[in-house]
Amino acid sequence: MITLTIDEKKIEAPPGTHVLQVALANGIEIPHLCYHPELSVSGGCRLCIVEVEGYPEPVPSCGLACTDGLVITTHGERLHELRKNVLDLLISDHPLDCLICEKAGDCLLQQYAYEYGIKETTYTPTISSTLYQDDNPFFIRDHQYCILCGLCVRICDEIVGVHAIDFAKRGFESNIATPYDGPMIESTCVFCGNCVQVCPTAALMPVSRKNKGREWELDRKTTICGYCGVGCQLEYALKEGEIVYAQASPDGPVNGELLCTKGRYGWDFAHSPERLTRPLIRRDLAYELGLSSEAWEQPDTSPLAVKQPKIEDDFIAVDWETALDLVASRLAATVSEHGPDSVMGLSSARCTNEENYLFQKFIRVGIGTNNVDHCARL
Ligand code: SF4
Ligand code: SF4
Ligand code: SF4
Ligand code: FES
Repeated sequence: MITLTIDEKKIEAPPGTHVLQVALANGIEIPHLCYHPELSVSGGCRLCIVEVEGYPEPVPSCGLACTDGLVITTHGERLHELRKNVLDLLISDHPLDCLICEKAGDCLLQQYAYEYGIKETTYTPTISSTLYQDDNPFFIRDHQYCILCGLCVRICDEIVGVHAIDFAKRGFESNIATPYDGPMIESTCVFCGNCVQVCPTAALMPVSRKNKGREWELDRKTTICGYCGVGCQLEYALKEGEIVYAQASPDGPVNGELLCTKGRYGWDFAHSPERLTRPLIRRDLAYELGLSSEAWEQPDTSPLAVKQPKIEDDFIAVDWETALDLVASRLAATVSEHGPDSVMGLSSARCTNEENYLFQKFIRVGIGTNNVDHCARL
């Protein structure tokens, strides 16, 4: 272990770690905009500068390797003024839209501007990129809010492994772009939205979040994604009980801050009017069982040919007892006529572990077949 001193506190750190990483792990807050613990260091924003004993000038702590005996000061008048100037430069190229910005209350730039008392820029304000790209169903890219921290580029390249976006152009004209600045939908992007989650400003925002309420109006619910067996932990942001957007909850033990497209964007079924909330019986069976007085024949078309079947045309709602009795009698008849292996059970990731356990037990022991599977394996 290496021993260094940060703000007069002796700290032990493993070799190969950086000062910002060690400071944050020890509860010492140093402002930073382009650093993420899971990504390579870029050292671009210069906000994390610290003073090092023996060094003539402050240096970025995110890229400063810990060495034995290093003495670091993280706050002071000089550092305060330098960081203030960095923020001043950043907002000289940033609309001061916090009053109407969807990200207000959840924006690191806004938070640091507040902490360092920056109300407006002392430079001549110029918005370098006014490009607004609403070219896919999942997220909007509004480049005027981009501070070019590069977190989106690095997460896409280093963790997602897609490298769909990168820095384009030079100097004041720089922006984050797909190859040839084409629409996102035509790039290699897989729409996992991990870039959206790490973006510190409103440059990348979920489409579903637009005009749905400010950050402080939203409730949070942590849950487990129901789509596959990985079991990622995610957090829904809700307004009056309706999901506004989903993101990985930062302390998820399985997935950390990462999600795939399904977990992040595939939650609209929760409020779908098409969602089944009561058991349904097909109309011909309902007539056979005396639950309906109208005779009905299933239309002679392939179910695959029906693009949007209307549930109410083909089914009637019944109570659970009737539905379960019907299923039980049909299953028993099939098993007795064709044997247990004529039956197969497919369970759902939306059930709990306990329900899935009971289901496989029912199929194996109750029905007598090993024909049982789960949608997470498909
Ligand atoms: S991105 Fe942040 S700093 Fe910029 S307008 Fe929105 S809330 Fe304000
Ligand atoms: S959504 Fe995923 S794949 Fe697409 S640019 Fe962002 S991180 Fe890369
Ligand atoms: S889009 Fe967001 S994450 Fe990407 S460089 Fe701009 S501010 Fe950073
Ligand atoms: S966080 Fe260190 S330079 Fe940006």
